[in-house]
Amino acid sequence: QRLQQLLRAMPKAELHIHIEGSLEPELIFALAQRNGVPLPYASVEDLRQAYAFTNLQSFLDIYYAGASVLLHEQDFYDMARAYLARAAIDNVAHAEIFFDPQTHTARGVAMETVINGLHRACADARSELGISATLILCFLRHLSEASAFETLEQAQPLLDKIVGVGLDSSELGHPPEKFARVFARCRELGLHRVAHAGEEGPPAYIWSALDALKVERIDHGVQAMHDAALMQRLAQDRIPLTVCPLSNQKLCVFPDLKNHNLRQLLDAGLCATVNSDDPAYFGGYINENFTQVFAATAMTARHAYQLAFNSFEASFASNADKRVWE
Ligand code: HPA
Ligand code: ZN
Repeated sequence: QRLQQLLRAMPKAELHIHIEGSLEPELIFALAQRNGVPLPYASVEDLRQAYAFTNLQSFLDIYYAGASVLLHEQDFYDMARAYLARAAIDNVAHAEIFFDPQTHTARGVAMETVINGLHRACADARSELGISATLILCFLRHLSEASAFETLEQAQPLLDKIVGVGLDSSELGHPPEKFARVFARCRELGLHRVAHAGEEGPPAYIWSALDALKVERIDHGVQAMHDAALMQRLAQDRIPLTVCPLSNQKLCVFPDLKNHNLRQLLDAGLCATVNSDDPAYFGGYINENFTQVFAATAMTARHAYQLAFNSFEASFASNADKRVWE
């Protein structure tokens, strides 16, 4: 119907996509074979069967296992290129792509292998797909501050290839404050800053992401709903939330998409956006997130336009990025 067509056709920016979460089971198996990496799954179907999650951690265990097939620069290129080709079909004009270097450097893969492969895919997407794509380096919050600093050090010679830093992985028990000094250093280096907060964790983690890390966007942030003062702060300062409806459904953050609070966040005047998070694991790319959450919560064309507008307002797109699609 017309609204669903509008949702699919409208130009949009995707601001919350973990590139390792775009690895489809078929590509995991192809790369495992190419690299001689053993997998504890007999087949693509066997692996897909394992995608039944009860919370964030149950997903992360499988997500990190899937990423173990990535060894060479070409692997990172192929993964990002496949995502960008898929994003083009969904009319994504601009993508800010998260990657988790510690997942790879811990296995002996060099930082430059990761960043150069991803960056080359972004450069080719610009010329061949008409999408501007940039990279956000995410620190794993279940690891130490020292490990985050070491990761930043390794990335230092490659900082012209990333637009910002983020914070992801297991949220509960890992409040943002642990990374205050790392994020302060990133700010001095001129990097943009975002953090996952309020996905499973409490509103207090959103406050500390804002005040201790000085982030410019909150990834997920759906738990803000439980704190009226926080809702007011987010609305007043127009701090964007990068919301991921299918992820929240699959990780049981909401019992059902019908209960998702995206509509309430928008109606409260927050700069919410719609994103896919880990599309290969959660059953859909960005347009699937739009169409399913709209169908479940009876949102309108006005919400659709607002979400498209918000996605560009919330982005870190430069003038050079905008020239790719404007
Ligand atoms: N939350 C935290 N860490 C992640 C996620 C997420 O939704 N996806 C990939 N890493
Ligand atoms: Zn995420």
